[in-house]
Amino acid sequence: MQNPFKGSLGIDFYTNQSTIKYIVLVVAAIIGVGSIIYTTQLVNVLKERERENIKLWAKAVEFSTVADGGSLNFITDNIIRPDNSLPVIILDSATNEILTTRNVQFDSSLNQNQIDDYLNKVLDQMKAENDPQPILIRDRPGSKIVSIQYVYFRNSRLLRQLSAYPYIQLSVIAVFAFIAYLAFSYSRKAEQNRVWVGLAKETAHQLGTPLSSLMAWVEYLRELPQMEDRHDIIIELNKDVQRLEMITSRFSNIGSNPVLKNEEVSEVIEETIAYLKPRVSSKVAFVIDADAPHLSAKMNRPLFEWVVENIVKNGVDAMSGIGKITITIGQESEGMVFIDIADDGKGIAKGKIKEVFKPGFTTKKRGWGLGLTLVKRIIENYHMGKIFVKASSADVGTVFRIVLKD
Ligand SMILES: Nc1ncnc2c1ncn2[C@@H]1O[C@H](COP(=O)(O)OP(=O)(O)O)[C@@H](O)[C@H]1O
Ligand SMILES: [Mg+2]
Repeated sequence: MQNPFKGSLGIDFYTNQSTIKYIVLVVAAIIGVGSIIYTTQLVNVLKERERENIKLWAKAVEFSTVADGGSLNFITDNIIRPDNSLPVIILDSATNEILTTRNVQFDSSLNQNQIDDYLNKVLDQMKAENDPQPILIRDRPGSKIVSIQYVYFRNSRLLRQLSAYPYIQLSVIAVFAFIAYLAFSYSRKAEQNRVWVGLAKETAHQLGTPLSSLMAWVEYLRELPQMEDRHDIIIELNKDVQRLEMITSRFSNIGSNPVLKNEEVSEVIEETIAYLKPRVSSKVAFVIDADAPHLSAKMNRPLFEWVVENIVKNGVDAMSGIGKITITIGQESEGMVFIDIADDGKGIAKGKIKEVFKPGFTTKKRGWGLGLTLVKRIIENYHMGKIFVKASSADVGTVFRIVLKD
């Protein structure tokens, strides 16, 4: 049967998924950069306009100093005045003294010193934002320049808000996207949990009925006089019934809240290996290396055996028939026991080490890619332990490490 995780066109789901991720990221980056560039352009246009206004205003002030004051004051104040919201400070170039301010609001309860401090601060802000616009003071039109004054100005609130806008907008969107992502992945996990648990429960339930009837039939056959000299059949039948019982108990444990009990790790490993050994190629050697033979860990035995079986079978698959599986048990840290399962097979490609636990990832023709997903689930969700690829290389083999609480 075809692996359902591979699309009908044979496109690998995983490479596909990471390409999609990559495309989404690139599109998001283009949108982000694009909106920043666009608003920067708007800001520049607006800035230029404000500068033009100030220039015009400075020219008018310049003109008013040589012409008849009254009517021109009206023009500068009411018609070509800088945008009402633009704060302006005029500085004498020779003395560096503040001559006038416009639209600079300050607290009226301040004393003169405080006002000066405040104005100097505003002036610094203005200097940072814009180059000043000079006003050339003459006695008469066309005569020599007597002095120069500088008009410093701040950008309008609108302009400042507009230049901050894309950054604020993008950060709000980013925060929102992050929260949405968390919510989605949480609900996806919850859904996966329900599928695992439901399917496992149903399987255990369905197996239960024929299994108990099978057990009764075996007992019936055992008592039958015609079977007297064929007890070998009964023994084989019994083995298969036990095997079915084991499968049922695995599924029923996955489908419930499995009970954890203190078990001696090396004993469980030895028993599992004794069971597996006759079922794999006789050219595969097994070595169990327990430097502290009586280490115990909290585990659900049927599930943990399932884990070991899956990892060992993958190791055997990786070595094409001949090789060695080494299982090392030891103390990881205070209260933690590790179990390393090492093979001398072909290893996992560097880029794929992270992928092996994902559902559907397989490099085998007849693989389902669910073995290690199940293993990870059993260790992390049911045992609160850890499992990871400790090492893997093409010439040496692969080591999986399981860490359990003792
Ligand atoms: N010990 C190992 N050595 C090399 N590759 C491994 C080993 N264990 C797992 N893998 C890789 O991880 C994949 C997923 O393993 P698994 O989830 O058990 O699914 P399956 O065995 O059905 O392929 C395998 O197809 C293989 O490519
Ligand atoms: Mg497998």
